[in-house]
Amino acid sequence: MSKNSLTRRHFLRIGTGSLAAGSALSATLLKPSLLSAASRAVAPSDTVRFASIGTGVRGCELLEATLRVPGIECVAVCDLYDSRHMAAQEAVKKSVAATRVYKEILDRKDIDAVIVAVTDHQHRKVVEDAFAAGKDVYCEKPMSHTVEDGFSIVAAAQKANRIVQVGSQRVSSILYAKAKEIYDSGKLGDVYAIEAFWDRNSASGAWVYPIPPDASEQTIDWNTFLDGAPKRPFDPVRFFRWRCFTDYGEGLAGDLFVHLISGIHFITGTNQIAQRAQSTGGLFRWKDGREFPDLIETFYDYPDFRVSLRCNLNNDGGEFIAFYGTKGTLLIKDSTLTYTPQDTRPQPEDYSTIGWPAALREEYLAQWHKDHPEPRPLHFNVDEESEAYAVPKGYSDIPDHQQHFFDAVRSRKPVVENEVFGNNAAIGCHLANYSYFNKTVAVWDEAAKKIVSG
Ligand SMILES: NC(=O)c1ccc[n+]([C@@H]2O[C@H](COP(=O)([O-])OP(=O)(O)OC[C@H]3O[C@@H](n4cnc5c(N)ncnc54)[C@H](O)[C@@H]3O)[C@@H](O)[C@H]2O)c1
Repeated sequence: MSKNSLTRRHFLRIGTGSLAAGSALSATLLKPSLLSAASRAVAPSDTVRFASIGTGVRGCELLEATLRVPGIECVAVCDLYDSRHMAAQEAVKKSVAATRVYKEILDRKDIDAVIVAVTDHQHRKVVEDAFAAGKDVYCEKPMSHTVEDGFSIVAAAQKANRIVQVGSQRVSSILYAKAKEIYDSGKLGDVYAIEAFWDRNSASGAWVYPIPPDASEQTIDWNTFLDGAPKRPFDPVRFFRWRCFTDYGEGLAGDLFVHLISGIHFITGTNQIAQRAQSTGGLFRWKDGREFPDLIETFYDYPDFRVSLRCNLNNDGGEFIAFYGTKGTLLIKDSTLTYTPQDTRPQPEDYSTIGWPAALREEYLAQWHKDHPEPRPLHFNVDEESEAYAVPKGYSDIPDHQQHFFDAVRSRKPVVENEVFGNNAAIGCHLANYSYFNKTVAVWDEAAKKIVSG
């Protein structure tokens, strides 16, 4: 692997953990795994033909990323807002069939798979219709809008025997793969405490997206958008800033917690629903009629560790996950990962013996050294033992994640972030919101498959 020097100042800027505070450690650049420079050749007969349903911000971002994935071809796009037909074709750099009616796409026999990037409240309907039409599905995160939606999608996927991948792309990131390798190696010792946050400080970060000047009931199929939600008059704010409203989104939990939970589940090899969650937070700043807080903090119980998550729209802290183990600390900060060992060699007590008379202290130390005859290394150099990794400039985990999906469509082998994984992660979001809105501890009742107050 090639070495790339990240300067000491870079780590100081990262600003968290012991390595950051005092190290000049250089980071190893990770090699892109799947798409590595010269992409693999795929026989024309193995080309996967796909369509995209929902070509808003994320749909277009995904379409652009598909251009870097070999052996696939976009043949149709669908969205309820006409201008997004054009945006989608621009993203995929060609003219393809475009429609407002996704069933037209599902009826096509020449389409193998669909990317579903519609608003969260429509995931269940579109995804289940796609299974019924025999399509494999890449469904954006969070997989479900409600607990019931999630279990319904799981059952439908398994009944239809379709490949499903949920869209928390960190699960396919080379940085997270390295984190998982370190976690699995046991170098961290026992990890009981995991902490993560994703903080932003801008109007865009708070979903205050501009309304396009051509938005109207003529250019947008508002009634279909409202499917599964209460009827109401046309409201472009709800259409474009849907994350702010409980009818269509899940606020910060569904938008960002889901990535953190998916990353933590992936790295720790956890594929289960958190047992309980306790949230606090509030709507302090972005008081524009939204129904979700702009700060949420949630504590989760899992059998073997505790997790604390935060999303704050009032400070630009970026994205961060930390695993605090008995033998070391693993930190992911944006696109950089560091592992810092703890000095766990046996040590004579030197704190509480301050309160002993010198003679007793010396007697204790003499005995201690007699009991520990192994020569102790002279010093513990955290820099020599620490590791740091970074992704190459321009790296994106989105095509890697897409490639995992399209490979599975061909091979029929399961993906990591399948419907069960996606459901477990999404329920973590629902637990957080249940606790926040009901001002109670949210407990996962596994037998009843529902959230109850603790
Ligand atoms: N993985 C990530 O990092 C990531 C990032 C952003 C968004 N997302 C997810 O992607 C999805 C879309 O988010 P977005 O930011 O693109 O929202 P968006 O509002 O920009 O786009 C959503 C689009 O879905 C369309 N739509 C809704 N119902 C439809 C239907 N029945 N048929 C056809 N089109 C329909 C709407 O017309 C709209 O254009 C959400 O689930 C979101 O959580 C994931």
